[in-house]
Amino acid sequence: MRAHQDAAALALEPQDRALRCRRGHSFDVARQGYVSLLTGASTKMIGDTAAMLDARAAFQTGGHFAPIAEAVTHAVTARRTAGPVLEVGAGTGYYLAQVLDAAPPTVGIALDVAKSAVRRCARAHPRAASVLADAWRGLPVRDGALDSVLSVFAPRNPGEVARVLAEDGCFVVATPTERHLGELVGPLDMVRVDPDKDRRLDAAMTGHFEPVEQTLVEYPMKLARADVANVVDMGPSAHHAAADDARLARLPESIEVTASVVVGTYRPGA
Ligand SMILES: C[S@@+](CC[C@H](N)C(=O)[O-])C[C@H]1O[C@@H](n2cnc3c(N)ncnc32)[C@H](O)[C@@H]1O
Repeated sequence: MRAHQDAAALALEPQDRALRCRRGHSFDVARQGYVSLLTGASTKMIGDTAAMLDARAAFQTGGHFAPIAEAVTHAVTARRTAGPVLEVGAGTGYYLAQVLDAAPPTVGIALDVAKSAVRRCARAHPRAASVLADAWRGLPVRDGALDSVLSVFAPRNPGEVARVLAEDGCFVVATPTERHLGELVGPLDMVRVDPDKDRRLDAAMTGHFEPVEQTLVEYPMKLARADVANVVDMGPSAHHAAADDARLARLPESIEVTASVVVGTYRPGA
């Protein structure tokens, strides 16, 4: 890894649980097992809250997004070599852990800007390291060092991802379609998926990546009210007045809700 602030290689000093660069900068390995590359005022991003991560972990444990995890894992393992995998905006580390399970002895890096996320990611998989960093300020990885990068409902920074991927590496991006959670959007006044999202994704990737394959993962989920509360609380609507109990109480005990996500695979190239 390298610290993007000074582009110098980091070495692990296990005796004092720190990563140091040749210029003497030091980045602590926290007691909870992650490395913080955020220094003081280096970012204004705060990422997801602990409550959002708890809701996300509970929802993922329920298996409702298992088909998405399978498609992401398949996209990575179908074309990879043995190099390391990075997940940008890893959250709970759910997707990275499944990719690593499917591809031993590959190692992985979970990167997130939220402390509560990287604490979780430090426990997500024995072959994953967990790093607190802002993906928009550069990825703390050497040029061409990675085999695969994942971004699942998360930030992308395609220019940086292209820099850290090997020439034959792949970038796997999962984004929701307008139908994702569609049955809940109206009744719970949830944040809608931006209808312009595909065009913005294409524009951001152009010049850095070319598309190889796209898979639509769309299926009905049978959700209890507690699952619905979690799916609201784990996403952008958690910041919004939507997740109120009165609206939730008006929903049936069990409701069928569409999961609809495109899993795209990209290769570096103009
Ligand atoms: C919607 S969550 C998705 C998490 C995970 N990929 C999943 O699907 O379970 C987005 C994640 O990106 C993180 N994030 C947001 N902005 C970020 C940034 N600039 N750098 C790194 N992580 C960021 C958030 O903290 C959050 O954990």
